[in-house]
Amino acid sequence: MNENYKNWDHQHVWHPFTQMKEYLAEDSLVIERAEGNYVIDTEGHRYLDAISSLWVNVHGHAKKEINDAIKAQLDKIAHSTLLGSANIPATELAKKLVDLVHEKLKTEKINHVFYSDNGSTAVEVALKIAFEYWQLKTPKKEYSQKQKFVSFRDAYHGDTIGAVSVGHIEMFHEIYRPLLFPTIQAPSPKDPECLDWVKNRFKKDAQKIAAVVIEPLVQGAGGMIVQPDGFLKKLKSLCEQYEVLFIADEVATGFGRTGTMFACEQEGVVPDLMCLAKGLTGGYLPLAATLATSEIYEAFLGNYSEYKTFFHGHSYTGNQLGCAAALANLDIFEKEKVLESLPSKIQTLTESLQRLKSLSSVIEIRQKGLMVGIEIGPYPLESRVAHKLCLAARKKHILIRPLGNTIVLMPPLSITEDEINLLCAVVYDLISAL
Ligand SMILES: Cc1ncc(COP(=O)(O)O)c(C=O)c1O
Repeated sequence: MNENYKNWDHQHVWHPFTQMKEYLAEDSLVIERAEGNYVIDTEGHRYLDAISSLWVNVHGHAKKEINDAIKAQLDKIAHSTLLGSANIPATELAKKLVDLVHEKLKTEKINHVFYSDNGSTAVEVALKIAFEYWQLKTPKKEYSQKQKFVSFRDAYHGDTIGAVSVGHIEMFHEIYRPLLFPTIQAPSPKDPECLDWVKNRFKKDAQKIAAVVIEPLVQGAGGMIVQPDGFLKKLKSLCEQYEVLFIADEVATGFGRTGTMFACEQEGVVPDLMCLAKGLTGGYLPLAATLATSEIYEAFLGNYSEYKTFFHGHSYTGNQLGCAAALANLDIFEKEKVLESLPSKIQTLTESLQRLKSLSSVIEIRQKGLMVGIEIGPYPLESRVAHKLCLAARKKHILIRPLGNTIVLMPPLSITEDEINLLCAVVYDLISAL
């Protein structure tokens, strides 16, 4: 039976971000079920899910409250369209997200939620709204040239064409360049010159720039690159000074990953548009939200004949099952005081990672909250050292994945301190054996 799944997988499934020739030559892992922080394969082996099933899982798998919420919703309705009608969970969730943002970001400016299905679409929506906002804003003559986007070296915002256009990871994005719309690539936020560069560019070209798009505090897929303290706040004030919209892509950083509910909180930044996905449903279902300020939303209001409508939407926009899961996810944050439990876990992780610094193959350890990148090397990327290390971790019942030569740890917020120590001990042993 098990062999069947492996065979069918090899014969028919084209895996994402995967060199299939390499994959077909490796041992397969077929996941059958999960309990808490562990996923379990068809042979009954349990693996600590130390990448939160690609940065989505929050409170562990098969969490009773989320399971129950989805089941209860399923007995009512799975899906109806949000085009021209509302539904109960999408309405409740919009209210809850707006209240949450008001509380956490200490602002009442953000009041509107546009749903989609994943992180990439949340970014596409933000880009299109930002673009259209300036086209709609009056006096038109002054603003209609604001059509360009600024994003940063090593940025990753998803895989759809707009999101790839504002992405700057050479390996993922370069081949598509002829297909993409041109964007302005600013230096890496960790480059001390970055803010001056942005300021000079704004001075010269702000009348042509619609928005800046940034992963706040940490560039995730770029290799867990942590921004210097104060960077985000200074970037936001440049945006205010030069009338450039600020899009915070909190797809990876949202829902506690950096130690607070949202990364923007830590710098007191209120974005104009905010993209949420991944952890929104606790890692259960594909749902995303792009949050907008009232000022932006109101620019789209008018008589139908003015054609100010935001002509965008997906079949599953505002899906009831996803929204029910998201509501249960947010309830758990409150009931289990999840954010309050994070500082000691983060501290344990920091301490446990200390020991790795002495290893000669460790170039740098980057950490923000429960997001960690351990850069090893120097190894040519083709040698696949980090990839092989992650396969070896699997033999020790730990699931991790690399980004180039960086080993990523991004456990669910429900990870225990014992599990953190175990995870770091396994990674230590594997790196020291290189
Ligand atoms: C910051 C950021 N934005 C957007 C995305 C795209 O999300 P999705 O894979 O759900 O389309 C990701 C995915 O890793 C991300 O890290």
